[in-house]
Amino acid sequence: GITRHYKFDIKLQNVTRLCHTKSVVTVNGQFPGPRIVAREGDRLVIKVVNHVQNNVTLHWHGIRQIRSGWADGPAYIAQCPIQTGQTYVYNFTIVGQRGTLWWHAHISWLRATLYGPIIILPKRGVPYPFARPYKEVPLVFGEWWNADPEAVITQALQTGGGPNVSDAYTINGLPGPLYNCSAKDTFMMKVKPGKTYLLRLANAALNDELFFSIANHTLTTVEVDAVYVKPFETDTIFLAPGQTTNVLLKTKPYQPDATFLMMARPYVTGKGTFDNTTVAGILQYHHPKPPISIKNLPLFKPVLPKLGDTTFVTNFSNKLRSLANAQYPANVPQHVDRHFFFTVGLGTKPCPKNRTCQGPNNNTMFAASVSNVSFVMPTKALLQTHYLQQPNGVYTTVLPSKPVIQFNYTGTPPNNTRVIDGTKVVVLPYNTSVEFVLQDTSILGAENHPLHLHGYNFFVVGQGFGNFDSKKDPAKFNLVDPVERNTIGVPVGGWVALRFLADNPGVWFMHCHFEVHTSWGLKMAWVVNDGKLPNQKLLPPPSDLPKC
Ligand code: C2O
Repeated sequence: GITRHYKFDIKLQNVTRLCHTKSVVTVNGQFPGPRIVAREGDRLVIKVVNHVQNNVTLHWHGIRQIRSGWADGPAYIAQCPIQTGQTYVYNFTIVGQRGTLWWHAHISWLRATLYGPIIILPKRGVPYPFARPYKEVPLVFGEWWNADPEAVITQALQTGGGPNVSDAYTINGLPGPLYNCSAKDTFMMKVKPGKTYLLRLANAALNDELFFSIANHTLTTVEVDAVYVKPFETDTIFLAPGQTTNVLLKTKPYQPDATFLMMARPYVTGKGTFDNTTVAGILQYHHPKPPISIKNLPLFKPVLPKLGDTTFVTNFSNKLRSLANAQYPANVPQHVDRHFFFTVGLGTKPCPKNRTCQGPNNNTMFAASVSNVSFVMPTKALLQTHYLQQPNGVYTTVLPSKPVIQFNYTGTPPNNTRVIDGTKVVVLPYNTSVEFVLQDTSILGAENHPLHLHGYNFFVVGQGFGNFDSKKDPAKFNLVDPVERNTIGVPVGGWVALRFLADNPGVWFMHCHFEVHTSWGLKMAWVVNDGKLPNQKLLPPPSDLPKC
């Protein structure tokens, strides 16, 4: 591979959407941020200079960061933030991955405007395991707030209530013609007839899983989270925040005088209706004689699954299978050294004295937890603390392998929904084969939680609804061709079973990729110790690693 250099200047830029202009934190003044293009095996050297008042870190979501956790990015986990005026160089190699990933800020809610796609092409001369596309187009979904997202989450954490929802969903930063004042801010994809396009989809929304569809066109899913899958056709794609999916779009053999809308909208939420607050882009066929205005052409709209269509979500995720062939084997751990059972869900914290709070069940604060532990961000970065072997006062290694209080997760929740604060991690010896089950608690209503693991992909060996049954359910696990990915939606009112081999030393964050749930504490960290051999050890930190 070669070395590719990028310079990311974090700076303010005025951006107008929905007829509302505000100053936003950007990379190089671009919104959304620039795309990174590389090949498998390349080294990326990304120099980040912080010119804004906010503390910043960047994360390369889904990049394995083998032995290079210093470049992973989550604030106070992998590194201290890059402060105003400081520079940090993210330096890492892309090992064994090709496909679409994305990068985003990993501190507070800055990722609302600091994000962009990472396009990893196969090594030179290595073809895709599908027909070569005529063109490749990244489509990154996001959310736009007219307010400052930093103020939105700050206010929510102070009052204990839910944060204000965003004002629009976007495709490549553009809300599209169904929103007020946004016809000119529409993502437009011009296509030729009879060609195959590769769409590189990424869900960068903060708090919503999305359905995506293009009117009158079928999509073929070929890759998720930078791992090839067995191709399958579908009208609609389901994408949780953090997830990426590559699909092939075959354009029609003729040139219809028509305009096709592509649309995305949330899977679960009370907000927004299908027709007038949904992000739309336009698929426009190349016309020999361009019409005077696309307004004159018949417009076709896609039919998206209805709000809360869990049946669709389940069917879609069941279709995702690894290629599992000689060239792209699925190295599913066949034995397990350590089992974990973690509950994930919402809960409450008491309201501080002399205040009134807007959380659920009368004067509480919303909280979220893993196995009832609401993760408290440390004031020093965990990775450096681990490297220096000075955990005292920073973190404890006592996150239990199963929750202390167990209950019927689909029945009536216990009266006490209080979470416990703590910075608790799990420690794994190098090369431990891990199976962990994530169980939605349904305490404040059942919910699908998109859990993301840093530093690894995991295999999704099983999932189901209701309570996980450790006696019966493992018999049904798929250990042959389960999908391999870095972010998984825990089914609403259900569970998912995941396996990975802990062969990447470092400290690795795991959290709900709903930004509001992360803010409330639905996060934890795995500490993977070094192995005996030199190539099993975390490399030393770079000299410009920021200090807290
Ligand atoms: Cu995409 Cu920890 O993040």
